Amino acid sequence: MTQQSPHTDLAPYSSVFVGERGVQLATLMQRYPTKMAALLPALWMVQEAHGWVPEEGISEVAAKLDLTAAYVRGVATFYTMYHLHPVGKHFIQVCTTSPCLCQGADKVVDAFLKHTGCHELGITSSDGKYTVIEVECLGACGFATPVQINLNTIENVTPDKVPTILAGLK
Ligand code: FES
Repeated sequence: MTQQSPHTDLAPYSSVFVGERGVQLATLMQRYPTKMAALLPALWMVQEAHGWVPEEGISEVAAKLDLTAAYVRGVATFYTMYHLHPVGKHFIQVCTTSPCLCQGADKVVDAFLKHTGCHELGITSSDGKYTVIEVECLGACGFATPVQINLNTIENVTPDKVPTILAGLK
């Protein structure tokens, strides 16, 4: 998987599995005993291409893997890593499970909401740059509060570090 940042792509849907990505998917499918087994990476490829998984992407994946759109949608909605609506270029996930909450994760969330201009969880800032959400354990409980921004995790985040973290995002 590449480290491409999510971004909001509201242009008309263009097929994902053409050219290089088409070859990638065909190669993936050869690795598995069934086409269905390539479902998660196929959805990921749609998200890499568009920044989220629109309904057209669900249909395209379903057609490629001989599945129903309902089945693909069911899987896509199960995993929180798939965005079913456009998100900001920088997708910010703050762990607010109990151990991190005890260390002030709620204040970290507040700082991100304030400094990004999002103001509310799950709402993308008006400049399209940020979306902030709370998530369950990021597996870095000893380094509260961990924050995942796109595919990068930052540990020991405190409210006062948030402006510097945001300033460092490209
Ligand atoms: S509880 Fe926050 S990373 Fe585990």
